[in-house]
Amino acid sequence: MARISMVVNGKAVTAEVEDRTLLAAFLRENLNLTGTHIGCDTSQCGACVVHVDGRAVKSCTMLAAQAAGSSVTTIEGLAASDGTLHPVQASFKENHGLQCGFCTTGMIMSSVDIINRYGGVLDEATVRHELEGNICRCTGYHNIVKAVLAAAEKMAPANVAAE
Ligand code: FES
Ligand code: FES
Repeated sequence: MARISMVVNGKAVTAEVEDRTLLAAFLRENLNLTGTHIGCDTSQCGACVVHVDGRAVKSCTMLAAQAAGSSVTTIEGLAASDGTLHPVQASFKENHGLQCGFCTTGMIMSSVDIINRYGGVLDEATVRHELEGNICRCTGYHNIVKAVLAAAEKMAPANVAAE
C-alpha cells in the first residue's frame, strides 16, 4: 500500500492505495469521479484522458502513485465554478460533437490539451492527427473535428483578448 496526496480539480486529496492502482481507477473508485471512462485495456481508446500538471495523459497507463504530488484535472473540473462550460465543452455541444457520449470526456480533455499546445492555430489535418489516440465508435469524427476547430478559433489569444 502507498499513501498518496495530490490535487484533483483544485482540491487536495490524500488516500491509501494499493501500489498497482491505476490513476483511472483511483479517480473513479476512490474519488467517485466517474466522468473519466475506461473503454479498453490496451491503452488505445483515450476515454480515460485527464490532465496531469496541465498535460493530457491516458489515466489507465499511469499508476495513481505516479501522480502523487501532481495537479490532476478531470472532466468534472473543467467547467467554471459557476457551471459555465469550458469553451471546448460548449463547442462540442454546439457542433453536435457527440452521440452516445462515452468517448466525449476523453475527447474533450485531449482537445483542450491540443488547443493549448498549438495556441489556437489549428487545421483539420492537425486535429485529426492529434486525436489519433482517441477512438469514437459513433460520430465518424466529423463533428468532433468541427467542434475542436471552432473552440480553437474562440480560444485563440487574439480572439480571447478581443472579447
Ligand atoms: S481506457 Fe485508457 S486508453 Fe482506453
Ligand atoms: S460519441 Fe459514442 S463513442 Fe464517441
